[in-house]
Amino acid sequence: MHKKPNEHAARASTSSLEKEALAVALRRECAAFNAYALAFRGSGSMIGKHLELKYAHSLRVLQNAEAIAMGEDAFRHNPLAKRALLMAALYHDLGRFEQLARYQTFRDADSINHGLLGAKLLRDKRFLSEETPQLRRLVRAAVLWHNRLNLPQGAPEPLATVSKALRDADKIDIIGVLNEELHPGHEPDKTIVLELRNDPKQYSPKALEAVMAGRAVLYADMESVNDFRLLLCSWVFMLEFGSSLRLLVRNGYMENILASLPPGQDMNKVRARVHNRLRDRTRH
Ligand SMILES: [Fe+2]
Repeated sequence: MHKKPNEHAARASTSSLEKEALAVALRRECAAFNAYALAFRGSGSMIGKHLELKYAHSLRVLQNAEAIAMGEDAFRHNPLAKRALLMAALYHDLGRFEQLARYQTFRDADSINHGLLGAKLLRDKRFLSEETPQLRRLVRAAVLWHNRLNLPQGAPEPLATVSKALRDADKIDIIGVLNEELHPGHEPDKTIVLELRNDPKQYSPKALEAVMAGRAVLYADMESVNDFRLLLCSWVFMLEFGSSLRLLVRNGYMENILASLPPGQDMNKVRARVHNRLRDRTRH
C-alpha cells in the first residue's frame, strides 16, 4: 500500500529528529570519555603517548562503526542497535587506560582482560547515565565481548549484531594503525607490536597455516612481527559485514600489509588467499 505524502513527511522528520538526538547523546558521551582519558595524562610520557593513541583509536572506531551502520540494513532499520553500536565503539577500549597506567602493557595475558575491565568501569563510573538501562546493558556486554576470540554461541539479538559490528570496526582501525607501524625498514613501536621480535625473515608455521585455512591467527601463536602481519591478514576471514570489507579495501591498508610480508612462495600463497577473499566478499 502506498503511503500518503504527509505520512512520508512525518516519517522523515521523525528520523531526522532521531538523528539529531543521537548526535547530541554522542557529543555528551564523547565529552565524558575525553574527561576520563584526560585524567590519565599525568601518568608518564611513554604512557601518555600510548594512551593518546588509544583515545584517537576509539574515535576512529566510532567513525568506522558509523560507516558500517550506514551500510547495513540491520542497523538502518534498528535505531536501538545503531545507538548501542556507536556508544560501544566509543567506549570499547575504556579499560586500556587503567590497564596501561597500572601494568605498563597492553598485553592482556600479562595484566588484565581490558574488555572485562572496561565493562566494569562503565558501570562503576556511571557512564551512559542518561541512556536507558537496556542500552547500557547492550553496550556493557558488547564491550565485554569485543576482545574475545569468538562471540558466545547463541547470543541474543540485537547484541550479537552489535558485537559483530563493533569487532569489525575495531579490527579495521587496528589494521590501519599497524599498517603505519609495519612498513619494511621501519623499527616498530614495541608496545604496539606487543613486544614481538622483529626479524625480517622469520614467521611461524602455525600463523601461516591459520591464514591459509581461513582461520584467525591466535595472539598466543605469534612469535615475530611478521606473525602480526599474518594475524592482520587472517582478519579478512573474521570481518562479518560486507561494509567492513569494502571499508578495508577503500582505505588500502591491506595492500600495504601484503606488500610488507617477506619474500617467498609461502607469502605469495597468502597474498593470493587474501585477495580472493576480498574479491569474493566485496562484490555487489
Ligand atoms: Fe580497540
